[in-house]
Amino acid sequence: MASKPTHLEPSELGTREYWDNLYTTELTNHAHDPTDTGTVWFDDSDAERKVIEYLEDLGLSPATTSFLDLGTGNGSLLFGLCDGGWSGRMLGVDYSRRSVEFARRIARSRGERPLPRRDSSSSSNNTNSAPAEEEKEEVDEVEFLEHDILKTPPSALLSGAQSQGWDVVLDKGTFDAISLSSETDPASGRRASESYKARILPLVREGGLFLVTSCNWTEEELRGWFVGVKEKEEEEEDERTRRWRFEEVGKVEYPSFSFGGAKGQTISSLCFRKARNNAS
Ligand SMILES: C[S@@+](CC[C@H](N)C(=O)[O-])C[C@H]1O[C@@H](n2cnc3c(N)ncnc32)[C@H](O)[C@@H]1O
Repeated sequence: MASKPTHLEPSELGTREYWDNLYTTELTNHAHDPTDTGTVWFDDSDAERKVIEYLEDLGLSPATTSFLDLGTGNGSLLFGLCDGGWSGRMLGVDYSRRSVEFARRIARSRGERPLPRRDSSSSSNNTNSAPAEEEKEEVDEVEFLEHDILKTPPSALLSGAQSQGWDVVLDKGTFDAISLSSETDPASGRRASESYKARILPLVREGGLFLVTSCNWTEEELRGWFVGVKEKEEEEEDERTRRWRFEEVGKVEYPSFSFGGAKGQTISSLCFRKARNNAS
């Protein structure tokens, strides 16, 4: 079993203030130029397209699969899924109020153009359909909510058809940001990254997927965080969390490089499935 990786040096990217400032700037830029939808993290590795292609190859239903995007930023990954024809429920959450405002604003501006559709039976040959209806549908296509993954109980994101969890929970760069936080739990002294797995497990339904993309952690380290960790803090978790585990399903392929005899890649995306922990 892989051991828990060592911690990263805290940085400003681990603070809410940093992200609020960034999204305030991005809101201003977007107001001046609506085509400017802000930073897409790991764009240089084409991560968003590769993650979406990876999901397309899993044989999930584009019409019904529900997606929860943790630390959604500008919502770009969810909008990318919409553009690819995925039409199940989508929710993006972020602890930065300005991020949520930004993502909602982009959703509204997207609503001003026609919907892309995958399902030809619902694709509109109907020239009578009112533009206002299409706008409304697009605006509602993705929801955004202010939510602190570490401080707000997971139950706040579990309701209706998702009361038992989401089909797919996405994280692109959020565990990275959380790993850079200097915050510690006052009682245990543990770093924020150490509570992350216990926070997200309840958000995934049994058999559902968690797909994490990181530039700060290697594949092996991600395995250590999400599969391998079996230490004291897990024993202390409540009964509900202890019954579950993540098992690795696969990974997104990125170009690798060699340097000084060592092989590496700049980012890693690993996909895990939530399974029952028979051992407990
Ligand atoms: C590197 S950005 C990634 C944004 C987006 N996922 C993307 O790929 O473009 C990290 C995001 O995580 C959010 N974040 C960090 N800590 C969080 C927390 N505890 N709860 C919710 N969101 C958080 C930040 O506000 C920021 O939007």
